[in-house]
Amino acid sequence: MPSEVIDSDEFLQRTIRTGPERDNTQKIEALLKRMTLEEKVGQMTQLTMSMIVSGTDQNIQVDPAKLEKAIVKYGVGSILNVADQALTVDRWHEVIGQIQNAATKKTRLGIPVIYGIDSIHGANYVQGATLFPQEIGMAATWNPELMKRAAEIAAVETRAAGIPWSFSPVLDLGRQPLWPRFWETFGEDPYLAKVMGVAFVRGLEGSDVASQDNVASSLKHYMGYSFPLTGRDRTPAWIPENYLREYFLPSFDGAVKAGARTVMINSGEINGVPGHINHHILTDILRGELGFKGFVVSDWEDIKKLVTIWRVAANEKEATKMAIMAGIDMSMVPTDYSFSDHLIALVKEGAVPQSRIDEAVRRILRVKYELGLFDNPGPNPALKSKFGLPESRQVSLQAAQESMTLLKNTGNILPLSKTTKVLVTGPTADSIISLNNGWSYVWQGSEESLYPKDRHTIRRAIEAKIGPGNLTFVQGTRITRPAGSPSNSTPTDKEEEVDISAAVRAAQNVDVVVLCLGEGSYCETPGNITDLNLGEPQLKLAEAIRSTGKPVVMVLVEGRPRIINRIADGAKAILLAYNPGNEGGTAIADVLFGDVNPSGKLPFTYPRTPNGLINYDHKPFETENTAFGNLAFKPQFHFGDGMSYTTFVYSDLRLGKNTISINDELPVSVTITNSGRRAGKEAVLLFVSDLVASISPPNRRLRRFAKVNIEPGQSRTLTFKLRRDDLSFIGADNKPVVEPGEFDVTIGGLTQRFTLK
Ligand code: BGC
Repeated sequence: MPSEVIDSDEFLQRTIRTGPERDNTQKIEALLKRMTLEEKVGQMTQLTMSMIVSGTDQNIQVDPAKLEKAIVKYGVGSILNVADQALTVDRWHEVIGQIQNAATKKTRLGIPVIYGIDSIHGANYVQGATLFPQEIGMAATWNPELMKRAAEIAAVETRAAGIPWSFSPVLDLGRQPLWPRFWETFGEDPYLAKVMGVAFVRGLEGSDVASQDNVASSLKHYMGYSFPLTGRDRTPAWIPENYLREYFLPSFDGAVKAGARTVMINSGEINGVPGHINHHILTDILRGELGFKGFVVSDWEDIKKLVTIWRVAANEKEATKMAIMAGIDMSMVPTDYSFSDHLIALVKEGAVPQSRIDEAVRRILRVKYELGLFDNPGPNPALKSKFGLPESRQVSLQAAQESMTLLKNTGNILPLSKTTKVLVTGPTADSIISLNNGWSYVWQGSEESLYPKDRHTIRRAIEAKIGPGNLTFVQGTRITRPAGSPSNSTPTDKEEEVDISAAVRAAQNVDVVVLCLGEGSYCETPGNITDLNLGEPQLKLAEAIRSTGKPVVMVLVEGRPRIINRIADGAKAILLAYNPGNEGGTAIADVLFGDVNPSGKLPFTYPRTPNGLINYDHKPFETENTAFGNLAFKPQFHFGDGMSYTTFVYSDLRLGKNTISINDELPVSVTITNSGRRAGKEAVLLFVSDLVASISPPNRRLRRFAKVNIEPGQSRTLTFKLRRDDLSFIGADNKPVVEPGEFDVTIGGLTQRFTLK
């Protein structure tokens, strides 16, 4: 393999290792001995920022009485979140400084607070931070090195604000496109999610989490959260244990092995058991099998929800006992003191053993020591110089560029020449909100006034490329949020026609229409939908534009695959941009006008119809059975689809052996030639199919990938190495098994067969 090409397996081997292990046991035990029950339970309590501040938006102030109650009286060990919106680094310093001052100087033992924040795509709750593509776009880059670099920047910028802990990465799988958190995932494949997840954790935690460039990560939402039957957030999933292990566990397994410090729990239920009381998952598997050493934090209010939503406990005290005994170490309460009161009472009554409290507190203290919080509890002003740097913005731009996924390009209409006269229209054409989606300055990402003014929407980026004289902009349709949104449970986006007829008129006078469709911003439950179709006003706009006969380039800015079947044929080119972040407008224009050669590939299966939901790794009989007729596998686009402005030809797929034994390594080589006229990057995907197995085998599974840059006329030969793990699956007894027989290896449409003895 050429020296600079690192495949996904080598990446994992190099990246999964963690840095120096410091043994803080003695300090922890000494401290624990001095702690009262109340102080211990305080460490297990996490409250939201509004519990210690007054005021709203930028005008929040730490409220001395509230702070005293939380930190001094209750000894709360952790605070999270923003009151409403992102703060500046300086405001964060004030807030965190006051919290740590109270914790370290006004409490008996001076234990620092661990502040936690959702740095989902960069330090998105710090004003001026570098925002990256959301995870779904990062997955489409197939570039784990870039994911790691983005997470390193997210870590530095989060820590620069004085915050040492991020609630990321999301390691749930995007296998249910209705789910409103689809875009927070790395897509549908367990292996891709594992490699990207390890990259994210290593980027956040670095080689030494005590270094002030790093933060502790939180793997979430452990596990099976993303696969609700109805697609609605926080509703029941039915997942048998072998499939839980086969699909939903590997990303968490990899990230735990990468040393992740904390884990956040699934807010939903699996097979009728809410995530927060599932002892088997939280303790037997997480601790017993994966060997997780850090602490487990609940999700938002989830102990209360055992009573109010799931109804598995009659009251909050009983719920508290169930969750703690299942393995929750810290409760994101987060808006009252009920948890502390109940847990203290439970221990005093003997309903929760003191040993379980000690275990949880040890884990929390260990992470606080590992982060160096006892030595450096407060924000470090020197770190401000590492915040929001131009080179960080450049990494975000590169990530956005590499995520762009070209799904159709009839007659090579793209790239467009910079002298083309263009109509730019559609609801996402002039929306920085759509480019970013949720977790951007506010939870729902929906406050336009908070976005930096110098970042380009698609409209502005195209204008910068071709000049205002060549561009006409007509809104077409709009996606809005009614005032007062979001409520917690209702879909809040509204779509409306604005001036479709004006767009049609404007189309007459241009060479090409860039039709920007997709979604607004949403996050969690407010993003629930009951119809995967793209909104009707957008479909109408697309059809009206099509009727003009002008060539259409469709750009999709969306967090989940909205159905475009009705209008796809009307577009000559289709570019999927996902939620590419603040540099996304520029990245889109770079690809449309040929300054960047696209190299993204789909990390999920793009359905053709709302009910045609099926993943790439389905069972062969689901699509081969002739009885299905035209219901066979015909998604709009396949997992791994993505075109380039050059062409790549695959040849010489070779296996080192045709027959192997169980412990043999199997070299697999393939040659990729750039047969076109410009340099390009190609993500090379290796799939393995087990032809016969005791659990009906999927038609293929991704087992390796590598992204290579190839000059025109040049070839690269890559050699991957497969091992027994790559051939194993979870058997009926919920254990991994490798069964002898025949296997196919497929890369770029070439297939070779081998036999496992
Ligand atoms: C989300 C988590 C998030 C937490 C804190 C919850 O509603 O499910 O992903 O980390 O809020 O903001």
